[in-house]
Amino acid sequence: MLRPTLLWLSERRAIAGLVPDAMARRFVAGDTVQQAVQAAVELQAKGITTTLDLLGESVHSPAETEAACATYVDMVQRMAAARLEVNVSVKLTQMGFDLDETLCLRNVARILDAAKAADGFVRLDMEGSAYTQRTLDFYRAKLRPLYGDHCGVVLQSMLRRTDADVAALCAEQVRVRLCKGAYLEPAAVAFPEKSDVDFSYVRNMERLMAEGHYPGLATHDEAIIRRACAFARERGIGPERFEFQMLYGVRRDLQLRLRQDGWRVRVYLPFGTQWYPYLMRRLAERPANIAFILGNMVREALPGR
Ligand code: FDA
Repeated sequence: MLRPTLLWLSERRAIAGLVPDAMARRFVAGDTVQQAVQAAVELQAKGITTTLDLLGESVHSPAETEAACATYVDMVQRMAAARLEVNVSVKLTQMGFDLDETLCLRNVARILDAAKAADGFVRLDMEGSAYTQRTLDFYRAKLRPLYGDHCGVVLQSMLRRTDADVAALCAEQVRVRLCKGAYLEPAAVAFPEKSDVDFSYVRNMERLMAEGHYPGLATHDEAIIRRACAFARERGIGPERFEFQMLYGVRRDLQLRLRQDGWRVRVYLPFGTQWYPYLMRRLAERPANIAFILGNMVREALPGR
């Protein structure tokens, strides 16, 4: 009951003002590009790579999309200047996908040109199921031919269509990030049962690891991660053939442990002032986070500490 409520609240931005700042800071690296790059440098010192994400989803004017695009180009250049591996994650709606596809392409191409010049990578985040086919079509028609391996996509194991998408993208050798899916979806397109989402994740993860092209396994699910490590060892798939991906602030212990065990780990590092829908989706994934973060805030506010 709490999860659907939190997902519902994630679409009610007027409530953002009621959420304490400290709650956002647990999952968001800061307001500015500089703060995000600094957080990435700190993770790099621990052997963990990053992908930076400017928070902000549907935009309402071409000027907003161009401002977001300019921030991404700045981000790419600052990552390169800080000697970080350049890797950013972009939402097409933030680049104007719902306003005008030509504008969206112009924006994404600017980011990709900058990333390509730095030998970097741009991941197209996947949004709700209404965007799945459109995103894959846009990627295949407009980006893949020009930018090849500098650009990749995301698939969500909660969607019924994902087995077929994984098969196709393995055949095309496209770089895929596999996640479970963060959006509230109807049963017609998504598995309502979590166990089915998890089975789908494992099935598609193994296919991507065996046949895909450098998949990103985006999950904090320890049982699934153990399975991935075991599968890699059984099949002789070396740690250079895939990477684990986790969210900033989530399971930092597991991120470090995997790295120490020799696996590649990338952290998805969001920043910016528009953190509200992102934060609410993270809280929906684990409502116990609300108590955890509030508990920390109270402890930190107690006198004598
Ligand atoms: P699940 O939700 O089953 O959780 C497994 C375990 O992980 C939990 O038991 C808990 O211990 C821990 N955990 C999970 N979330 C936590 C949290 N917020 N705080 C603390 N512990 C937590 N989605 C999408 O639709 N499109 C996208 O493009 C992306 N991109 C993306 C990139 C990366 C790098 C990650 C890690 C995730 C995404 N996601 C995403 C989000 C994804 O779809 C999913 O909602 C979350 O990762 C949570 O699912 P898990 O796989 O972690 O499993």
